[in-house]
Amino acid sequence: MSGPRHFVNLHQVGRPGLREILDISVNMKAENPRGAAGEPLAGRSMAMIFEKPSTRTRVSFEVAMRQLGGHALMLTGSELQLGRGETIGDTARVLSRYVDAIMIRTWDEDRLFEMAEAATVPVINGLTDSSHPCQLMADVMTFEEHRGPIADRIIAWCGDGNNVARSWIHAAAMFGFELRMACPEELQPPAELLAWANGQGARITVGADPDTMVRGADCVVTDTWVSMGDKEAPSRHNLLRPYQVNDRLMRLAGPEAVFMHCLPAHRGEEVTDSVLDGPHSLVWDEAENRLHSQKGILMWCLAPEKVGR
Ligand code: CP
Ligand code: NVA
Repeated sequence: MSGPRHFVNLHQVGRPGLREILDISVNMKAENPRGAAGEPLAGRSMAMIFEKPSTRTRVSFEVAMRQLGGHALMLTGSELQLGRGETIGDTARVLSRYVDAIMIRTWDEDRLFEMAEAATVPVINGLTDSSHPCQLMADVMTFEEHRGPIADRIIAWCGDGNNVARSWIHAAAMFGFELRMACPEELQPPAELLAWANGQGARITVGADPDTMVRGADCVVTDTWVSMGDKEAPSRHNLLRPYQVNDRLMRLAGPEAVFMHCLPAHRGEEVTDSVLDGPHSLVWDEAENRLHSQKGILMWCLAPEKVGR
């Protein structure tokens, strides 16, 4: 039975779909680096529900939709009846009668799954407490743009085993790179997720020592110590301080290693200014590629017949 093409998590899209999205994104960037990309989505609309703040995801999706000839509506959870108790399922059923796609940034991943289950149009995961797959499409695109195919390369994650880290785990399983994760024991990614990834043949090592994990890596990646919804606690900062990405750590990775961060960064915490603004940093290209990769995701979900499938 064929239903809408959701972009919920990387492994649910699958390897061929992910590669197809990246190919579309790279072509769109080459053909339209700064602007309009024809009007393949003319007359199409997307509702964007944000239950958490956003700069990159919101702006890149809105601009991507516009550049493809369509239209995006920005909706915050508190302004919708969702904020007054209308169910996710009913919201999905109603929005599906108005728009051609729904993007949602929310808390518990079950809210996203509920939306995808009830919607009759594609649902896109704009971040949950456990995942950020759109970010990973831009990250893989950026790495490959600068360093060639990511398969068999070494990516070192340093810090909290958070939502972005978990999507890196999905990506390791789907794209075939080696992922080394340095996280304090208390903040490591869930054992079930790691077991799932192992079952998929992913090469993932998790340890508490950042120096060991970073040595010889092709890419060092980190994220904020306090994600949206996490309690600000001095104990988190104390646990994570040894995982700061600084010049010493980047030297261990080696002269060719690149640095990535989904942003927003907390300068002086998880990363120093010298690394973020330094010669190894790809963060601005990575942020720009959110725009190009959102176009790939939108085309894959909404107009596969216009991109060869
Ligand atoms: N990286 C990312 O998703 O940023 P925003 O929270 O600004 O959307
Ligand atoms: N881990 C961060 C990512 C922000 C894009 C958060 O969830 O706040």
